Amino acid sequence: MRALLCRSLEEGIDGLRVEDVPPPGLSPDGVRIEVHAAAMNFADTLLVRGRYQEKPALPFAPGLEVAGFVLEVAPGVQHVLPGERVVALLDHGGFAEEAVARASEVVRIPEEIDDATAAAIPIAYLTSYLALVERARLQPREVLVVFGASGGVGLSAVEVGHGLGARVIAVASSHDKLATALDRGADDAVSYTEEDVAARIEELAGGADVIYDPVGGELFEAGLHAINPGGRILLVGFASGTVPQIPANHLLVKDAAALGFSIGQFRRHQPDRVRAALAELLRMTVEGRLRPLVSQVLPLDRAVEGLRELQVGRTVGKLVVRPR
Ligand SMILES: NC(=O)c1ccc[n+]([C@@H]2O[C@H](COP(=O)([O-])OP(=O)(O)OC[C@H]3O[C@@H](n4cnc5c(N)ncnc54)[C@H](OP(=O)(O)O)[C@@H]3O)[C@@H](O)[C@H]2O)c1
Repeated sequence: MRALLCRSLEEGIDGLRVEDVPPPGLSPDGVRIEVHAAAMNFADTLLVRGRYQEKPALPFAPGLEVAGFVLEVAPGVQHVLPGERVVALLDHGGFAEEAVARASEVVRIPEEIDDATAAAIPIAYLTSYLALVERARLQPREVLVVFGASGGVGLSAVEVGHGLGARVIAVASSHDKLATALDRGADDAVSYTEEDVAARIEELAGGADVIYDPVGGELFEAGLHAINPGGRILLVGFASGTVPQIPANHLLVKDAAALGFSIGQFRRHQPDRVRAALAELLRMTVEGRLRPLVSQVLPLDRAVEGLRELQVGRTVGKLVVRPR
């Protein structure tokens, strides 16, 4: 099969090459999938530089979420069958013609949803849904501020927060990006390149009850200044490259909480919850309550171009690779 391989962590994205390799073996609890769409994540850009939590043995193909047809299932797997169309989470290996997922992380795709859209759902929407509902306990009419609001996870947080009845304030670097967030349900938009983020949040809504932060750096600091008493700031990622240090006295004075969220921990410790949530997110998409944005679909030979754009924060919504 053809796969986009990482053979060294020195070169990162620049070292990735499409090669012919044997398909991965079926694990005892596995489902083999003919990959028709694989969505990109910022994490892929970290994975190929050895900067992600997980460090797969070399060589490996990046790619953490796929959609396609089931080719084969391990003995005992009953909830999906060969020939069915499924979406799956992976540890890696999605940018390839075939991938093997744990059966517990595979869900059938409703016929109304195409492969590219299905592949774009798991990581972004599971992260936003579980972080906002289970970790931050976001309530209707609370003020939710989303940083990186047009990116993969950010845009999904805008939609999920809007769906939960929150007042959503989107924060991003450009007017085009903010227009996308407004189209997906944000009530207000703040450009952090032109405005004082904390002051503008204060002016718009009096402060933030929940802040969803996949960016870190200076935005995190602005978030801390804007947070309301009893507020929660969700640490989702550090796309800016700067991991913020949290002044504990600030949390005390504001009676606020900083909450870490990791989809990886959820996948490890609550796989049933993750699969149920993914099925629910697919249902919400069928009902039109979520509108995942796939901004570009690329062939495997051009996947590197997409990863380069993603690494520097130039993409909007999700990019998808078609390995076949
Ligand atoms: N905790 C979890 O379970 C979990 C799950 C999924 C993703 N994440 C993390 O969340 C972060 C975002 O992931 P994603 O897939 O949504 O990425 P993405 O689509 O690239 O979005 C990241 C956003 O960050 C902003 N940004 C600011 N400075 C940046 C920089 N120097 N380089 C790149 N982007 C920059 C960009 O928006 P502006 O131009 O508007 O600033 C960009 O849209 C990553 O750190 C990822 O690892 C965490």
